[in-house]
Amino acid sequence: LEAFLAPKDLLGLRLLVSAGPTREYLDPVRFISNPSSGRMGYAVAEAARDRGAEVVLVSGPTCLKAPWGVEVVRVESALEMRQAILERYPWAKAVVMAAAVADYRPAEVLKDKEPKVEAEKTIRLVPNPDILKELGERKEGRVLVGFAMETASGLERAQEKLRRKNLDLIALNWVNREGVGFGSPENEVVLISRDGRVLELPRMEKRQVAHRILDLVKEFWKP
Ligand code: CTP
Ligand code: CA
Repeated sequence: LEAFLAPKDLLGLRLLVSAGPTREYLDPVRFISNPSSGRMGYAVAEAARDRGAEVVLVSGPTCLKAPWGVEVVRVESALEMRQAILERYPWAKAVVMAAAVADYRPAEVLKDKEPKVEAEKTIRLVPNPDILKELGERKEGRVLVGFAMETASGLERAQEKLRRKNLDLIALNWVNREGVGFGSPENEVVLISRDGRVLELPRMEKRQVAHRILDLVKEFWKP
């Protein structure tokens, strides 16, 4: 019903959305990850679809079912997510990067499961590429939206990320607030735009947050 009632104000927009965590494997059965549920990114994909956009969703592992009318590309690691996104970047007019990409991966991935040893163990990590920053370096008129998870000095850090990654919009998430963020159906975000606007949204359903983000994407998008 929601899809039927929504205004088709994003017809012609080709939107690439990323969602969920990434998994960085140590061996075939162990990985490093984070608690992202994927809900925020899926909400953006569904809201955009309802408004007439053509949507591709690059998703890390989640429990969510594939939204109808959206092409879903499933990936696990940050490197896989990077490849899936870069392949579709030439097609996209806008990108909403809601995935919680792991900042590091194990320096080596073991082929077989190692038996445990009764001793301390050190894991060497190497940095993952910053996907969004790469997109910002070859933006060519696209609209780029990022998310920032912060626990302290959020506003300044989010504004710094917006500039460093050449974004139009960044959604600041407070991860230490109760009942919002990771895994929750609701979210409380601050939207910071390239032109200096700071919009503090009240706590609302992720689907509603998605619509507010898309309102701004529409504003920055030049068909
Ligand atoms: N991001 C990305 N690739 C990475 C890390 C992050 O594309 N390797 C994206 C996220 O999807 C998000 C934005 O960059 O949209 C900001 O992510 P965040 O983790 O807040 O920023 P970082 O640059 O990783 O900085 P830090 O974790 O140190 O705060
Ligand atoms: Ca990070």
